[in-house]
Amino acid sequence: MAVAYNKRTHRCGGLRIDDAGQAVTLVGWVNNYRDHGGMVFIDLRDSEGITQLKFNPETDPKAHETARGLRNEDVIAINGNVAPRGDNVNPKLPTGEIEVEAHAVDVLAKSDPTPFEIEDDTEANEELRLRYRYLDLRRPSMQKTFRLRHQLGKIIRDYFDENGFVEIETPFLTKSTPEGARDYLVPSRVQQGTFYALPQSPQIFKQLFMVAGFDRYAQIVRCFRDEDLRGNRQPEFTQLDMEMSFVKREDVMDMVDGCIQRLFKEILDIDITVPLKHMKYAEAMDRFGVDRPDTRFGLELQDVTGQVREIDFGVFKSAIDAGGMVRCIVAPGAADKLTRKITDGLTEELRGIGAGGLPLTKVIEKDGNLEFATGVAKFVQPVCQSLCDAVGAKAGDSVFFMPGTYDDVCKYLHYVRTRLAEMLDVIPEHRWDLLWVIDFPLVAWNEEMKRWDSTHHPFTAPVDEDIHLLKSDPGKVRDQAYDLVLNGEEMAGGSIRIHRREVQQSVFELLNISEKESNLKFSHLMEALRFGAPPHGGIAFGFDRWAMLLAQKASLRDVIAYPKTQRAVCPLTNAPGEVATAQLEELGIDLRPEVKAKREAAS
Ligand code: AMO
Repeated sequence: MAVAYNKRTHRCGGLRIDDAGQAVTLVGWVNNYRDHGGMVFIDLRDSEGITQLKFNPETDPKAHETARGLRNEDVIAINGNVAPRGDNVNPKLPTGEIEVEAHAVDVLAKSDPTPFEIEDDTEANEELRLRYRYLDLRRPSMQKTFRLRHQLGKIIRDYFDENGFVEIETPFLTKSTPEGARDYLVPSRVQQGTFYALPQSPQIFKQLFMVAGFDRYAQIVRCFRDEDLRGNRQPEFTQLDMEMSFVKREDVMDMVDGCIQRLFKEILDIDITVPLKHMKYAEAMDRFGVDRPDTRFGLELQDVTGQVREIDFGVFKSAIDAGGMVRCIVAPGAADKLTRKITDGLTEELRGIGAGGLPLTKVIEKDGNLEFATGVAKFVQPVCQSLCDAVGAKAGDSVFFMPGTYDDVCKYLHYVRTRLAEMLDVIPEHRWDLLWVIDFPLVAWNEEMKRWDSTHHPFTAPVDEDIHLLKSDPGKVRDQAYDLVLNGEEMAGGSIRIHRREVQQSVFELLNISEKESNLKFSHLMEALRFGAPPHGGIAFGFDRWAMLLAQKASLRDVIAYPKTQRAVCPLTNAPGEVATAQLEELGIDLRPEVKAKREAAS
């Protein structure tokens, strides 16, 4: 009689010693197969765990014969009885005290040999795992990760629901919403020559919900950004996007604090103290060189322009004379740990990202006095004592200098700080440093394009008392944005929005967005601002980033079921792919001859 695979009695992770003697029906995949002198043992796996099956040739010859033909990843259903394992307990498995003596087995599907073993410690490279993602996802650690991701979504939804938020969907086929990346475009067949843009975020739509009077909106939503994929970015990713009316920035941050506290408690059983710390943008840049500081370790940036101003060292002098500065990082006890080879390597890395070099030296003690040795020692020696006093350097420390403009010094020393922390192994494990960064500048000067760019997006409200500076001194205007940072990663970003049309118009003007362009792209928002827009603000979390951190994974690709590679390709489906000429014709699109030639050469 066939085993009723639709009537399983237990999951493979669920049986315990108390179940001994029970008749059970289990289904799943053959995780591995062992033939021990006639007795066949199979580890049966499903989404919740593994159970050992035993096939006895004496008592159940037919089932035993079928079992001998099984191979890894075959799909089977069995009937059997739970029995204690006696002396052969496997303490590594939750089901390790029992096994199931199988009396009947049905093979529901055979499997070809898989391109890699389905186990957590796989050595298969990522490209192969992504190509056979459905096999990769069978691995127990992946099943666990995606359950955590589900749990994350559920906690967030419940939290916002309890706080009176409504989830409303926003369109994917839409117009550009600028978040600083390129748009993914979708050609219209019905109106040839026109294009939808996939949303970089639901920013404008959620603001319109506030105008519509929804008051509190939250959505877990996919966003699309065609951007440089270095680091932890994906072209399509998920946000928890929310917006609230009649609020100031403290109200939004408080609401998020509560959510974060609940996430940490329910997922990791960690108590987070709220309200979370706040740090002003200027302080973050001064101390850490970056607006998403990792505060788990020291190695902070320190200004030494005053100390080195008079010394005879061209590299420092020219930076200071040009209106720049010299700042440094003191690495305690690093003098012995960082060999010349290592610091040369670091200098090369910095050159690779555009720095002129990395002047450095070591502090030693000689006859009771501090001295600099190696590197730029001979130039900085005259100010050794005052410099060491100012930055708290001691014998055995290394000092890394950076001359240049404020922006460059921040950029390069942030890089140095991050690399030093790795090399000196000073990042504590199991620490969660959460903080809000606030008071960003509204705009930043883009030297290359000779224009002001938004630090966040063009809908971010300036601080009220700075509005009068919009025309006269835009670089001084602070915004009402807030970014949530965890261990040096930007986990969420949001702001109070501009709800007055004339302020929005002035900000567009400042950003060099002409009336024509703003009408073309944002007329729906500008119009809505005429009809009673309440003061409002909100935020979006990088949902995948939260999943990655809470699951303690290294890459976003580990927490997205079907992710793209760094070249924005899906190895499973081979997307993006070519399309038939007829399909392009329908859309009124013709490939440029050189593009066609390149494609033909590639195929
Ligand atoms: P922002 O652009 O800061 O803000 O995005 C919010 C959060 O989304 C995550 N994120 C990404 N995650 C993975 N891959 C990417 N390519 C990627 N880009 C961004 C980050 C980031 O903090 N509309 C505003 C929010 C608002 O103002 O309410 C917005 O999208 O974790």
